[in-house]
Amino acid sequence: MTWAEDLHALAPLAARAPSPHNAQPWTVGYGQDSLTIGWDPTRSLPVGDPTRRDLYLCLGGYVETWLIAATDAGLNARAEIEVDEAARTVARLLPADSPHATDFTAADIAGRACARGGHRAGRLDPEQIARAGLQLTTTGLTELPAQELAGLAVRADRRLWSAPGVAAELRDWLRLTPRHPRYYQDGLTYQALAMSRAEAVGLRAVLAARASRPLAPLLASTQSGLLRGEGSVLVLSGSPETAESMVGAGRELLRVWYALAAQGISVHPLSQLIDCPETERELRRRVGARPLAVFRAGHPVSPPPRSARLPSPPASRP
Ligand SMILES: Cc1cc2nc3c(=O)[nH]c(=O)nc-3n(C[C@H](O)[C@H](O)[C@H](O)COP(=O)(O)O)c2cc1C
Repeated sequence: MTWAEDLHALAPLAARAPSPHNAQPWTVGYGQDSLTIGWDPTRSLPVGDPTRRDLYLCLGGYVETWLIAATDAGLNARAEIEVDEAARTVARLLPADSPHATDFTAADIAGRACARGGHRAGRLDPEQIARAGLQLTTTGLTELPAQELAGLAVRADRRLWSAPGVAAELRDWLRLTPRHPRYYQDGLTYQALAMSRAEAVGLRAVLAARASRPLAPLLASTQSGLLRGEGSVLVLSGSPETAESMVGAGRELLRVWYALAAQGISVHPLSQLIDCPETERELRRRVGARPLAVFRAGHPVSPPPRSARLPSPPASRP
């Protein structure tokens, strides 16, 4: 087996990386001794993520996950980050003389999951946050009390979900019944969204009536309720000026998420706080830097559901 073939065997593990709306936008091209990572435009979110901030963060996290998987499997690999917008590629994985430096393992990749339901009351221990922050080199991590952001989250949700394009894009990725043909492949199941079966049935009825407006109050009330209790919100901030540095920030984001997961802490991203210009400005003022990712972080009261993934395609030349 060649190095690339050995690496290819790790594709299902690497695909456990997180992605916005669980769209899994990554593509992988296998060369003789390299692997090229890019994206599939049909799986990106041009309306909700017009600047590609979340796309590049996601692809950075995917690159980092591949490297952790490789190290765990005893393969030496390194990443060369170069974004080619025309070719829609962001990185190449190449053989290396030594393993990628990481504390994480395949178990950390497999054990991570977003938890959008209730978290145990209480803010995180500053030591735990510091341990996650040790994984950072070019970005910063700030903790804010969840309650302080409850009002902002309501404003962000109202603003975004009442924008017809954003709501329509989300609808495409909702999986509100196990009978949905793609339920076991991608998208957001009602369990992942911490909705009951009855709530999912109700939302399907609303959507079937082509009334997407009720999405706004429904999502806004869910978010504000979760943030009103005592808890922590973490903000990853930095000043990435190029697409490459945004991919780098995505690698750091995933190192934070894996470090938290290793301590039993799950995250619930709240990207709408950055997508809405008004709440982004307020968040920027509070952390004193540009927010790149924002998420609730805590100990989930019940184990988060395991999200679906597409079957890994067979190796194809780039
Ligand atoms: C860059 C990025 C942004 C995300 N933004 C949100 C968000 O705003 N709200 C949310 O509920 N989940 C968000 N997610 C989480 C994804 O929906 C989640 O990773 C995906 O559904 C797969 O589930 P899993 O992480 O539990 O495996 C985001 C993930 C990434 C990588």
